[in-house]
Amino acid sequence: MASLVICFFLVVLFSACHEVSTSSDQLCIEKEANKTYNCENLGLSEIPDTLPNTTEFLEFSFNFLPTIQNTTFSRLIDLTFLDLTRCQINWIHDDTFQSHHQLSTLILTGNPLIFMAETAFNGPKSLKHLFLIQTGISSLEFIPPHNLENLESLHLGSNHISSIKLPNDFPAGNLKVLDFQNNAIHYLSREDMNSLKQTTNLSLNFNGNDIKGIEPGAFSSQFFQSLNFGGTRDLSVIFSGLRNSTIQSLWLGTFEDIDNQYLSSATFQGLCDTSVESINLQKHHFSDFSSTTFRCFAQLQNLDLTATHLQELPSGIEGMNSLKKLVLNVNKFDQLCQINAANFPSLTHLYVKGNMKKLHLGTGCLEKLENLQKLDLSHSGIEASDCCNLQLKNLPHLQSLNLSYNELIGFQREAFQACPQLEILDLSFTHLHVSAPQSPFQNLHHLKILNLSHSFLDTSNQLLLAGLPDLRHLNLQGNRFQDGSIPKNNLLQTVGSLEILVLSSSDLLSIDQQAFHSLDKMSHVDLSHNNLTSNSIDALSHLKGIYLNLAANAIGIISPHLLSILSQQSTINLSHNPLDCTCSNIHFLTWYKENLQKLEDLEETVCANPPSLKGVQLSDVRLSCGITPVGILFLTVFFLLVSILLIFAIKFFLRWKYQHI
Ligand SMILES: *[C@@H]1O[C@H](CO)[C@@H](O)[C@H](O)[C@H]1NC(C)=O
Ligand SMILES: *[C@@H]1O[C@H](CO)[C@@H](O)[C@H](O)[C@H]1NC(C)=O
Ligand SMILES: *[C@@H]1O[C@H](CO)[C@@H](O)[C@H](O)[C@H]1NC(C)=O
Ligand SMILES: *[C@@H]1O[C@H](CO)[C@@H](O)[C@H](O)[C@H]1NC(C)=O
Ligand SMILES: *[C@@H]1O[C@H](CO)[C@@H](O)[C@H](O)[C@H]1NC(C)=O
Ligand SMILES: *[C@@H]1O[C@H](CO)[C@@H](O)[C@H](O)[C@H]1NC(C)=O
Ligand SMILES: *[C@@H]1O[C@H](CO)[C@@H](O)[C@H](O)[C@H]1NC(C)=O
Ligand SMILES: *[C@@H]1O[C@H](CO)[C@@H](O)[C@H](O)[C@H]1NC(C)=O
Ligand SMILES: *[C@@H]1O[C@H](CO)[C@@H](O)[C@H](O)[C@H]1NC(C)=O
Repeated sequence: MASLVICFFLVVLFSACHEVSTSSDQLCIEKEANKTYNCENLGLSEIPDTLPNTTEFLEFSFNFLPTIQNTTFSRLIDLTFLDLTRCQINWIHDDTFQSHHQLSTLILTGNPLIFMAETAFNGPKSLKHLFLIQTGISSLEFIPPHNLENLESLHLGSNHISSIKLPNDFPAGNLKVLDFQNNAIHYLSREDMNSLKQTTNLSLNFNGNDIKGIEPGAFSSQFFQSLNFGGTRDLSVIFSGLRNSTIQSLWLGTFEDIDNQYLSSATFQGLCDTSVESINLQKHHFSDFSSTTFRCFAQLQNLDLTATHLQELPSGIEGMNSLKKLVLNVNKFDQLCQINAANFPSLTHLYVKGNMKKLHLGTGCLEKLENLQKLDLSHSGIEASDCCNLQLKNLPHLQSLNLSYNELIGFQREAFQACPQLEILDLSFTHLHVSAPQSPFQNLHHLKILNLSHSFLDTSNQLLLAGLPDLRHLNLQGNRFQDGSIPKNNLLQTVGSLEILVLSSSDLLSIDQQAFHSLDKMSHVDLSHNNLTSNSIDALSHLKGIYLNLAANAIGIISPHLLSILSQQSTINLSHNPLDCTCSNIHFLTWYKENLQKLEDLEETVCANPPSLKGVQLSDVRLSCGITPVGILFLTVFFLLVSILLIFAIKFFLRWKYQHI
């Protein structure tokens, strides 16, 4: 008997083990039925039988395929995307992808390739993207050029390549992206660059190579979409090397751990003979900054000087009339006037974000920038007691102003007369102080977006938002209302054009039934993260088809008369509320199940009460709310009384009848 039991146990154990081993190759995750599968990091050494033949998109990285050949993927002839990152592939045999006519992206990143057959990439009708990052390649001759006519991007980062010369037979005609980041390329010859002559509009990446020399004329009369020489120690080499070329975007930033030669006017000498639209010099140091430093920047349209340790830009820089966009983020200006904006009279976009010192706005520092459309002064420690008419003097075309994440800004009435065309104003996370009873925003006829989140506003000022006839989007998140309540008469009455209103995280306890009555264009109302009960829903009775977020409030029971208000909206978020799942809320629970298509975040919309249903999703609750025991008692007594009455009546009738016989 004992042995029988042991035997039985063994059988059970064995079959359990067996089940585990078979399920391990079923772990590929189906992302889209019959098409997209993820089999990452499963220790697989072959394509599992469970993948359907119709698989098109396969992520197969971190598995074990030391050699791949014509049989490895032969079943999956519909593949268009194949990711084989870090599969320890050493050998790619002849015709591995012969039947994969649709294959367009092949990722071989992180495989220590020893051998690739001449016909390795034969098969695909248009292989467009090939990733050979970190594959130990030291020469481009290693890549079999057959069948790469349609290649658009070739990624060769983190290898040991020292020469970029493509083999003569390499079909580069359609190449748009050629990425050589972090290789060992130190010299670019004319011959190297000539091998790219067939390309047009190429983006070429030499980031992290430290180019030490370029043969004169190597880039001559070529056109590039972008060139990246990030991390080059001596930029003068690059500027002289690029003579006579045309470049849309030139990225020359550097990194903290590289000790670079300081930039001076001599560095930029070569730029005078090059046509460049935008330059990024992020994190470099300038040695001497004079009015001649930018002598060769005359045709430049965008200049990014982020974190270039600048304390000022000299006055009298001449000829920068083409510059449209200037980025001066993360520098060390004391005052806005130190950028000497008059040097750049055509600017449309100016960014002075994340200044490392408290930035003083000064008076009229930008008044020569008549064409300025966008100004970003966020995260710059700005304090201004009476903003902004003097500070932003004469910016008639300014459309977007970002003053978010600053310290303290005070406003009088009509504080933005200097920029009447404003459409977007972001003041979030900046402590605002409005000293006049009238609106500081008065007469911003074009303002569409106003972000006042977390700005410590005095929300009792009913005129705060007066004079904004076109305001569509108002964010008041994180501002308090007196007693946690929005009264009938409030600051929203003046902004009837509002479509999006955010009042989340504002410690609200209630909203008056009439509070939103003048807002009839609204399509999106966010009241999440407050302490509202269902009574506040009444304030939305005149709105239809809106997105309504009531998540994370104090809503327990929703009475039947409010359900029609919810019914007329398009999407409702009721998650994270202490919802009641007893019979006292049965009308709402029934409504909920009938309107699931309107509700979002169903998984987080759960019962808080009764304790037995705590945490259960509302959609799973089954309640039967028949008549209660008390009701039954009443009914019984009622019927009893009626029957007694009836018996008496009959008795009476019969007696009466007999008496009259
Ligand atoms: C996936 O393929 C199976 C078998 O060919 C088929 O029954 C099913 O309808 C397909 N599913 C989809 C979503 O195409
Ligand atoms: C794979 O290649 C071998 C040898 O070249 C050949 O015999 C075989 O038919 C090929 N298999 C397929 C599925 O094409
Ligand atoms: C998948 O392809 C293989 C080889 O081409 C074939 O033998 C098999 O029958 C196919 N499976 C299905 C379900 O079509
Ligand atoms: C060059 O390529 C970029 C994208 O890489 C594209 O936006 C631009 O239109 C192209 N220019 C020309 C002249 O083909
Ligand atoms: C640039 O072009 C000019 C005129 O076409 C020519 O004289 C000069 O030698 C070229 N410079 C380089 C470095 O190719
Ligand atoms: C303003 O700047 C902040 C911080 O830099 C950013 O998060 C925000 O998106 C910007 N606002 C607008 C309207 O672009
Ligand atoms: C303020 O709101 C606008 C509009 O939604 C948004 O673009 C911007 O990023 C917000 N600002 C911050 C600091 O989040
Ligand atoms: C709002 O609710 C939170 C969490 O339930 C609570 O901590 C907070 O004290 C409430 N606030 C007010 C003003 O009642
Ligand atoms: C519902 O609202 C909560 C709180 O604002 C948010 O975290 C969640 O993402 C929302 N759900 C959806 C589906 O947007």
